[in-house]
Amino acid sequence: MTTTQPGPVLVVMAMRAESAPIIEQLGLSAVESPASWPSIEWFVSDDADLVIARNGVDPTHGVDAIGTGPAIITTLLSIDRWTPAWVVSAGTAGGFRARGGHIGQVILADGPVIHHDRRIALPAFEALGRGGHPTADLRSLATELGFTSGPCSTGDSLDAPPLDVEAMAAHGTLAKDMEAAAVAGVAARKGIAFTACKVITDIVDGDFATADEFRANLAAASAALADAVPRLVAALPR
Ligand code: ADE
Repeated sequence: MTTTQPGPVLVVMAMRAESAPIIEQLGLSAVESPASWPSIEWFVSDDADLVIARNGVDPTHGVDAIGTGPAIITTLLSIDRWTPAWVVSAGTAGGFRARGGHIGQVILADGPVIHHDRRIALPAFEALGRGGHPTADLRSLATELGFTSGPCSTGDSLDAPPLDVEAMAAHGTLAKDMEAAAVAGVAARKGIAFTACKVITDIVDGDFATADEFRANLAAASAALADAVPRLVAALPR
């Protein structure tokens, strides 16, 4: 049983396209960004029970600040600002045909979330690199909501070179993303319950180039997130 402190659900998202439908559908209001990292964007429900935190636009490159570095900063500043009961990493992910994955599948994290691209062949540091941060046991909730429970893993690349593929196969990864383990690591350090909710846009071991398949399915996956995330938020044990 997950125990939580009182507070809102903090949903951390990376891309504007992923988060726009849910922000619009729920009528969330933008509030002032943190002075120390003004690219972070916060969107809050009228009752302040749900906060969506977005990494925002990288000021140097002019695109959504995706990946683990921005995710850590967003999560830390958002936890300090909002003192949430739950932290949820939500967004899109790559799936795996070999493990039953399909486009549009909604995955709710099960088991530790790892960094599949961090290899440190020094005793003791191997585990630090891998992360392995805890996720709440939400398997029965996933079944109720019609989601698939399974292992998530994170890397800072959209592609999947052989060493990463090996690490993901050993982990049984169902959702390969670019933020969940980073968000989970901060939530764990702060002692806050964590889960990840990911919609599959592309099949890592499939027939199409990842970037093409991702672009083709991004809008539909973002609409699916706008359906899945509010149902998850309403059902989380508080
Ligand atoms: N987000 C959506 N598809 C992804 C993939 N294949 N790898 C990492 N992040 C993703």
